[in-house]
Amino acid sequence: MKVEMAKCVLMLALIAVFVTATLAGKGEDDGDSFGMEGKDPMKMFKAMTGMMKKMMKGGFGREGDKVPATGHVLIISGKVSENAQKFSISLAHQKEENPYENSDVAFMFVCEFDQGKIVRSSIVNGNRSVAESTENLTSNKLQPIESGGEFTICILVGDDRFHVSIDDEAFCFFKFKMPVSEIKAISVSGDLDNVSQLDHRLIFPMLYPLVNKDVPDIVFSSFIPKEYKPGHVVLISGIASGNPEGEFVIMFNENGRSRQLIHLNPRFDQQSVVMNTMLDDDESSWADAEVQSQIFPFEINKPFKISAAFTDSDLKIATNGQYVMSFSLKQIELGDDQTIWEILTGFQIKAGEDIKIQITQVEHVETEDKDCQGFESCSVPNIY
Ligand SMILES: *[C@@H]1O[C@H](CO)[C@@H](O)[C@H](O)[C@H]1NC(C)=O
Ligand SMILES: *[C@@H]1O[C@H](CO)[C@@H](O)[C@H](O)[C@H]1NC(C)=O
Ligand SMILES: *[C@@H]1O[C@H](CO)[C@@H](O)[C@H](O)[C@H]1NC(C)=O
Repeated sequence: MKVEMAKCVLMLALIAVFVTATLAGKGEDDGDSFGMEGKDPMKMFKAMTGMMKKMMKGGFGREGDKVPATGHVLIISGKVSENAQKFSISLAHQKEENPYENSDVAFMFVCEFDQGKIVRSSIVNGNRSVAESTENLTSNKLQPIESGGEFTICILVGDDRFHVSIDDEAFCFFKFKMPVSEIKAISVSGDLDNVSQLDHRLIFPMLYPLVNKDVPDIVFSSFIPKEYKPGHVVLISGIASGNPEGEFVIMFNENGRSRQLIHLNPRFDQQSVVMNTMLDDDESSWADAEVQSQIFPFEINKPFKISAAFTDSDLKIATNGQYVMSFSLKQIELGDDQTIWEILTGFQIKAGEDIKIQITQVEHVETEDKDCQGFESCSVPNIY
C-alpha cells in the first residue's frame, strides 16, 4: 500500500496488548454470562452512558485489568468517498498488510455499494464462513450506508455474538465463529475519505472510559478501555496536508473531561512542537510547564509516525525514528492520592488553520521496560 493522498485509508489499531491482557479472564471463566442477550444493545448503550456518567463521577471500581470481552464496544466513524464501491472493517487475529490473507478474521464486515448490501463473514483456520447479508438482520434495510456519506458503526461484543448498529440504529448480529480473545487488530479500509474515530469502550458492566463532552474540530478519536501504565507506547501514523502554516494537537485528555492532561501540538508555522498541560477544563488555563522542541520532524504531505512513550516520569516523543522531546509528567496537576495512570485513557486529535490530518494507523504497545528504551525506533515509518 502506498501512503499518499489516496482515497483509501487503512487503519490498523493493534490492540494486542490490552486484548490479551484484558480478555485473559474470559477463557477460564467461560460459563460466566453477562445476561446481555435479548436486550437491545443500542438502548443499553444509551441508557448506560447516562447512568454511568452519574455513577462514576468519583471514579470507578474496575477489577484490575480483567475487563471481560463481553461489553466491549468498538465505535468506528468515517466518511465514505463519492462513488465508492466498497469498504470493509475486519477484526483480525493479527496485524496484516492485507487482512484477507493468511490471517484468521473473527468478523469481516464488507459494505458493498454496487451490490447494495453488507456482507458479514469470518475466516477460521483459513476457512471462510457462509457469507451473511440478508440473514441475521435486526434492521429492514440491507445497506443503510450511503456512498459519499458519513457513518458511525458500533460493534458490541455480546455473550455469544457481535451486535452491530449503524448510525444509532440496530443493524445485525453475527455469532462468534472463533474466540473474541483472538482479535488483535482492527482494520478499516476501502473507499473512504477518512476514518475519524476508532474508539474502544467498555459499556458493560460499566462505562469506561467516560464519554467526553463534544469537542469541536476533532479529526480523530482513539480511546481504549484500559489505563495507560509506565511502559506504554502509543504509535500514531498519519499524514498532514493543506495549509503549510497550520497546526494540529494530540490531546491526551483526562477521563471524561475536556482537560488536556498532555497537549502535544506540532506548529508548522513556528517549526516547533509545543507540549503543555492544562490546569482545568478551561482552554485558557495552561500550566507554566510549556516546552518547545528544538527540531520539527513534520512535513506537509509526508507521512509521519509518532512514538509517544510513557515512562515512570515522562512522556517521550519521537517521530520518524528521531527523538523530538519529552514532557515531565510531574508537571500535571493531580488530586490528592491521584495518579496520572488512573485518569489517562486515550487521545483525540484536533486540526486547526485549514490543515487536514488523516490518521492511518494507531498501535498500542505495552513494554515491560518502564523507561521505554529504544522507543524511537518504533517510530520509523513502516515500509510499504
Ligand atoms: C477447513 O476446511 C478444511 C477442508 O474442508 C477442513 O478439513 C478443516 O477441518 C476445516 N477447518 C475448520 C476449522 O473448520
Ligand atoms: C445466521 O445466518 C447464517 C447463514 O445463513 C445461518 O447459518 C445462521 O443459522 C443464522 N443465525 C444465527 C443465530 O447465526
Ligand atoms: C473527512 O473528509 C471529508 C471530505 O474530504 C471532509 O469534509 C471532512 O472534514 C473530513 N473529516 C475529518 C474528521 O477529517
